[in-house]
Amino acid sequence: MKRPSSLTRAADLGEPELDKRLMRRFPVFDDMIEAAERRIPRRIAGYLLGGADSERGLAENRAAFQRIQLVPRYGVDLSKLSLAVDVLGQTYSAPIGVAPVGYTGAIWPGAERALAEAAQRSNVPFITSTFAIESLETIIGYAPDVAWFQLYYFKTKEHSLDLIERAKRAGYRVLVVTIDIPVYSKRTRDHRNGLEFPPAVSLSLLAEVARTPVWSAEYLKRPYPLPGNLMRYAANPAGGAAALRELLAQTEIQALSWEALAELRKAWPGKLVVKGIQHPRDAEAAVAAGADGIIVSNHGGRQFDGAPASIDSLPAVAEAVGGRAVVMLDSGVRSGLDVAKALVRGAQCCFAGRAFVAACAAAGHPGAAHAMGVFQDEIATALGQLGASSPAALRADRTREWLSP
Ligand code: GLV
Repeated sequence: MKRPSSLTRAADLGEPELDKRLMRRFPVFDDMIEAAERRIPRRIAGYLLGGADSERGLAENRAAFQRIQLVPRYGVDLSKLSLAVDVLGQTYSAPIGVAPVGYTGAIWPGAERALAEAAQRSNVPFITSTFAIESLETIIGYAPDVAWFQLYYFKTKEHSLDLIERAKRAGYRVLVVTIDIPVYSKRTRDHRNGLEFPPAVSLSLLAEVARTPVWSAEYLKRPYPLPGNLMRYAANPAGGAAALRELLAQTEIQALSWEALAELRKAWPGKLVVKGIQHPRDAEAAVAAGADGIIVSNHGGRQFDGAPASIDSLPAVAEAVGGRAVVMLDSGVRSGLDVAKALVRGAQCCFAGRAFVAACAAAGHPGAAHAMGVFQDEIATALGQLGASSPAALRADRTREWLSP
């Protein structure tokens, strides 16, 4: 998207031009999230956009980003501005990736494929969830160079170990173990909306679906959305929703000890990332157990409602890790400026979940490429405005150079 006065737009960096029509409708992620809320059946939108308990933590993730001010620096040569970052031994084209979102393909039918393919084209990481609808074996076909696999540690440990084996066989290079579900949280909107997995058919569900015709049309084009990684572990893998209900009752996530993490480390030869770290001592323990990367995350405000915003937990974690592992961040990321703020505070790259899924809901599958373009364009703008010619430049000297006094 070239503008006459533009010095450092993503398009100038060789990125595809942003679609003008989509830019008019959805120039920022807040617009996409607002549209998504209208276009997805109410209870499913509540699952995507909701948080735990009072949702204070959900709001705080956004509020904390908005409190941060950075002082721009001028007099810097930006003629070679680049968004490229090295993460876990691979060069990606921008410091943003797609966070794992369970049931993405049920929230917006087809969104997993759209986002994975868009991530591959944009050369940014795409983390597929244990609870994705499309299997990890299918996803890697859409995003062979950039797909990472996210793992939950189940009480049925053999399922987690089998998922690791499958990820290995499929050719994944990065395993992301989520640590922040020691127990399930209370999702207030899901209670209010009567959400169940799989949803029971009821008049109220049908009324919601009738109000979202585009979602319904996409839904009807595809098989009933079941978690493709997990159905083979059901007593009756072909048993559809009933088999899933039974499987979910048995296959609970369990708290992951550092010893168990070290055991997963032994089973996984590739890069290991631990997602959900908030305390610097936990970051140190994860590194000691063999983590190559940490994602500072409070699960988008979906787990512990009393937690600080991830962006506020980040500096102490980055300090404690001190270069021994790659530090990344998710939770509340809604713009390229948020990404720049996280880089200044010590992250190597960021992930967004709701923003990407909402883009697909707002604009259909072209929303995936639009979301990639908007992030790239906004990150380029933020770097240029700040006087940083690369993400690495923004991270260097971070406390002295950019933070407002
Ligand atoms: C799953 O990870 C969720 O947050 O719903």
